[in-house]
Amino acid sequence: TTFDKQYRRKRGPYSLPTDLTPDERQELDRIQRRKQELLADIQRLKDEIAEVTNEIENLGSTEERKNMQKNKQVAMGRKKFNMDPKKGIQFLIENELLKHTCEDIAQFLYKGEGLNKTAIGDYLGERDDFNIQVLHAFVELHEFMDLNLVQALRQFLWSFRLPGEAQKIDRMMEAFAQRYCQCNPGVFESTDTCYVLSFAIIMLNTSLHNPNVKDKPGVERFIAMNRGINDGGDLPEDLLRNLYDSIKNEPFKIPEDDGNDLTHTFFNPDREGWLLKLGGRVKTWKRRWFILTDNCLYYFEYTTDKEPRGIIPLENLSIREVDDSKKPNCFELYIPDNKDQVIKACKTEADGRVVEGNHTVYRISAPTPEEKEEWMKCIKAAISRDPFYEMLAARKKKVSSTKRH
Ligand SMILES: *[C@@H]1O[C@H](CO)[C@@H](O)[C@H](O)[C@H]1NC(C)=O
Ligand SMILES: *[C@@H]1O[C@H](CO)[C@@H](O)[C@H](O)[C@H]1NC(C)=O
Ligand SMILES: *[C@@H]1O[C@H](CO)[C@@H](O)[C@H](O)[C@H]1NC(C)=O
Ligand SMILES: *[C@@H]1O[C@H](CO)[C@@H](O)[C@H](O)[C@H]1NC(C)=O
Repeated sequence: TTFDKQYRRKRGPYSLPTDLTPDERQELDRIQRRKQELLADIQRLKDEIAEVTNEIENLGSTEERKNMQKNKQVAMGRKKFNMDPKKGIQFLIENELLKHTCEDIAQFLYKGEGLNKTAIGDYLGERDDFNIQVLHAFVELHEFMDLNLVQALRQFLWSFRLPGEAQKIDRMMEAFAQRYCQCNPGVFESTDTCYVLSFAIIMLNTSLHNPNVKDKPGVERFIAMNRGINDGGDLPEDLLRNLYDSIKNEPFKIPEDDGNDLTHTFFNPDREGWLLKLGGRVKTWKRRWFILTDNCLYYFEYTTDKEPRGIIPLENLSIREVDDSKKPNCFELYIPDNKDQVIKACKTEADGRVVEGNHTVYRISAPTPEEKEEWMKCIKAAISRDPFYEMLAARKKKVSSTKRH
């Protein structure tokens, strides 16, 4: 029929021709079967590929999930560490993100990724035997070979924030000096020499760069100050000049610098300026030029006076903030646990006689709140005879007297 013809034509090559010989028909059947087989093969392969792809995808996502979870825990560990270093480390160990060895922990602190440097300093400063081992492993990670002492100190003091406590600083700087000498044999006679010079350099940094320190030593004085510290001998002048220039050209940076640098931790900073002082006998306020030095407070009538009007030794005194109805920004020097005892001090009368002071307290008013803060900080540092100061002094004595006899 016409319909059949059109239908066959439309189906073209797929239609089964009716006018084939039996051989041709057989051949055609064979081809058709082969085609079915191939199609089946292709389907099988497709299925297999789909399965494998699926497997790969699943594999990736579990790995990813694991990784993500691990990263989350590490981030949490860092946060914990910044709040409480010991707890943070414990958390990381419990979750198998850190091995419980001083080398691993030291490495973690040395990399310092996401860690607060104050917290690193706190952890390294702990007195615990284990923490001390971590401190040593941490210092070992620093490479100081062929660095001069200033360069090495820059690197070291940047890797964590030195805590304020004298004993901790002593342990850390001792470890530093040992490592420096190990990396640079032959530069110093002893670790103590390296230790003492390190502090001379930190002090120099403060003298040269802290605007409150008026007295800026020149290189000659720096060299003179370090005479005899190499086990009784002198260090090469070139070396000291280099170190001096390096600090002069670029101050030490310390992390988390909150302005409370090592000045107030170790050294009795000198300070001078105008303050008002309330009289002992006659309660009037007098403007005086005050100088804080050698653990004494001197006051002068004029900045150019050679002789002070009064001297107040700070030994055994305390300082406190007070409110005064007449003057702003007041503080007071007083004897703790004492009501009527007069503070040991002296002053010069108008006629030139030197007499004992008659103060149970010294009340002083600063021109601004900032100056009051700064004076109080400096006086406090001068009063609290820092144990570190004595430790350093003892070492200095040791390194400068070794070969004298
Ligand atoms: C690090 O910790 C100290 C002390 O807890 C804090 O004063 C300081 O702001 C912290 N620094 C940063 C960058 O969070
Ligand atoms: C060096 O001096 C600068 C300026 O006073 C101070 O900011 C910095 O903390 C000092 N560095 C050290 C290590 O004392
Ligand atoms: C400080 O106190 C000690 C011990 O009480 C005493 O020996 C010393 O003389 C006092 N110094 C001054 C200046 O008062
Ligand atoms: C010290 O002041 C008190 C009163 O505050 C007075 O009684 C005493 O005589 C004064 N002493 C001297 C040595 O001026």
